[in-house]
Amino acid sequence: MNNEWFDVQLHKLKAQGLYRNPTVLNAYRSKYGMISSTEKLNLSSNNYLGLIHDERLINAAVQAAKTYGVGSSGSRLTTGTSDLHIELENIIAKFHQTEAALLFSSGYLANVGVLSALPQKGDVILSDEWNHASLIDGCRLSKADVKVYKHSDMIELEKRLSEAQSVYNRCFIVTDGVFSMDGDVALLNEINDLAASYEAYVIVDDAHGTGVLGEYGRGTTEHFKIDVDVKIGTLSKAVGTEGGYVAGSAQLIDYLRNYARPFIFQTALSPMVVAAAIESFAILKQANEKRKHLAKMSRLLREKLKEENFNVTDGFTPIIPVIIGDNDHTLQLAEKLNERGIFAKAIRPPTVPIGTSRIRLCLTSDYTDRDIDYISKVFAEVRTELNIPTT
Ligand SMILES: Cc1ncc(COP(=O)(O)O)c(C=O)c1O
Repeated sequence: MNNEWFDVQLHKLKAQGLYRNPTVLNAYRSKYGMISSTEKLNLSSNNYLGLIHDERLINAAVQAAKTYGVGSSGSRLTTGTSDLHIELENIIAKFHQTEAALLFSSGYLANVGVLSALPQKGDVILSDEWNHASLIDGCRLSKADVKVYKHSDMIELEKRLSEAQSVYNRCFIVTDGVFSMDGDVALLNEINDLAASYEAYVIVDDAHGTGVLGEYGRGTTEHFKIDVDVKIGTLSKAVGTEGGYVAGSAQLIDYLRNYARPFIFQTALSPMVVAAAIESFAILKQANEKRKHLAKMSRLLREKLKEENFNVTDGFTPIIPVIIGDNDHTLQLAEKLNERGIFAKAIRPPTVPIGTSRIRLCLTSDYTDRDIDYISKVFAEVRTELNIPTT
């Protein structure tokens, strides 16, 4: 293979300030991460309720490893399924108040699995332009037509629903529950009403809403007190483990079990992870105090950063984007923050639109008022040091 070709491609990214490389962490615990053996406040993690290190989850994983081993050894349809996997699916269905649920190896694959299997040729998918890459990839694999509507633009969505009525067999509206790079919440109540008027189906990827929103942590649907046709979730964020799932009617789940290729052709989740997730769901339901604290810290950080004249989008979720705009400025800011003990990643195109590079902050329920004061103070000092203009 001609390695020069790779050099050219990578050079292009470097020239645009878009080259990416993961930061190495030696360990992470609670709100801290160890980078080069130095403790940093970790503002890049989706461990929203701090469950990754919960002893109950760790013990459950260790016990499961002793009983089942560390791997699952094959796809569930060909190798058989552990009773733990079934137990977790029942727990997820009960948690989301649906008839059934199906596990996937990641949230990414759950999205790809649903969208490649459910909408068919002759159907249409209406997809929010800010949807997560895994929904976009699912759309790409689908045989249905795909129409992208402007972010949360209900007028355009209605127009597209109306146009679709006489053309397509079925119409699926697909949206993130909480948008991953901006932290805003889909207008699910309005989407649901439109879907009812136009006999469309609603598919919600609630990766960042599950465990975080609603009194019982059921996510965006609980927040709006509504129900949707297909709920997709991940076990990798507030749940504190890894894996993904779909929850819905018994027929939907039976269909996906037989048609969703990422379920059929992939080795099942490790029993260790499944056992930890079972433990996590028992904790999640009762974690309302943590959720309230997380919401309070998120509000406080937004307020403080705005007081310092940072461009912070409104919202109430723990994803707080600080829009800087320029790629290089954003990278420099992230680097300086790191030197001052704050690990926060620069997010640049193509993950976000050109000109909106940002530091994306994600809080967990372990943060305190003091941490928030420190973070906003350091942000302001570092911006002055780098001479980055206020927005
Ligand atoms: C909105 C959204 N959906 C899906 C995923 C993928 O989930 P997983 O990491 O479990 O594959 C992510 C992020 O990772 C996400 O932010």
